[in-house]
Amino acid sequence: MNVPNIKLSSKTTIPQLGFGTWMMKEERECKNAVKAALSTGYRHFDTAQIYENEQFIGQALAESGIPRAELFITTKIWNDNMFWDDIGPSFEESLKKLQTDYVDLLLLHFPVTEYRRPAWHRMQDIYKSGKVKAIGVSNYTIKHLEELLRESEIKPAVNQVELHVFLQQPDLVQYCHDNDIAIEAYSPIAHGYDMDNKTIAKIAKKHGKSVAQIMIRWCLQKGFITIPKSARPERIQENFDTIGFTLDEEDMKEIAALDKGLRTCWDPTHVA
Ligand SMILES: NC(=O)c1ccc[n+]([C@@H]2O[C@H](COP(=O)([O-])OP(=O)(O)OC[C@H]3O[C@@H](n4cnc5c(N)ncnc54)[C@H](OP(=O)(O)O)[C@@H]3O)[C@@H](O)[C@H]2O)c1
Repeated sequence: MNVPNIKLSSKTTIPQLGFGTWMMKEERECKNAVKAALSTGYRHFDTAQIYENEQFIGQALAESGIPRAELFITTKIWNDNMFWDDIGPSFEESLKKLQTDYVDLLLLHFPVTEYRRPAWHRMQDIYKSGKVKAIGVSNYTIKHLEELLRESEIKPAVNQVELHVFLQQPDLVQYCHDNDIAIEAYSPIAHGYDMDNKTIAKIAKKHGKSVAQIMIRWCLQKGFITIPKSARPERIQENFDTIGFTLDEEDMKEIAALDKGLRTCWDPTHVA
């Protein structure tokens, strides 16, 4: 089964299912996981300056011999590099570590109050330089997006946010949909929280799938891009095997009722 592509407002496409790499700081673990992901069929890799693994991902991708054009690489500008003068050099450093001359998607990692507005102008310049195919944001709420859309020339192609069956964010999803901003769901299996959930376990049994697979499938079926992380080859495969089955209307209704606003990562709601 092929991973479907989603068209972004930048006119480029992104594989809907990608590979998350947060908390893979150790060289051997990271390179082995990326190699396992590549042989499973993943072509979309999500990293960030703060993950401290761009160099390992760059090496593993280069060693694979897979043409660059067949890969989709996302990285993110970390908060400490969001000063106007630091964004460009930090981005060049990311390119060097990733052993590439462009990234497919560059995100501002967090809506840091003091820096996000000038930082977006710098992101636009980088986009115009041709060294990124698309620019976007991460952890932006509706309020942050409204400000950005009011003030910017180029709108974000993507908003990467925590989104899973326990944190469904319907208002943010609707806002992004209305403004042609693709939603990228991070922590799709809620970082491993409540893997014994009874409702999901029941649906999993019905489809002969695992709880994690139902959670990832829900993201895909809602139309989100998503990027589950695992360092274990069997789970890397399991998480990929979410392409070829469908949750029915009843399943989706039951899962809709699981939303409880649960955040397993950071909460940008109160960021001014
Ligand atoms: N933009 C942001 O601020 C932000 C924040 C958080 C995450 N992200 C991105 O989103 C990616 C995914 O989010 P995440 O890493 O937080 O959480 P996640 O993908 O929801 O969950 C990862 C956790 O679940 C375990 N796991 C993976 N597959 C499993 C399976 N099939 N069955 C049972 N457990 C499984 C993993 O352990 P093992 O590795 O041991 O399998 C790991 O502990 C990150 O890696 C990162 O690329 C972005």
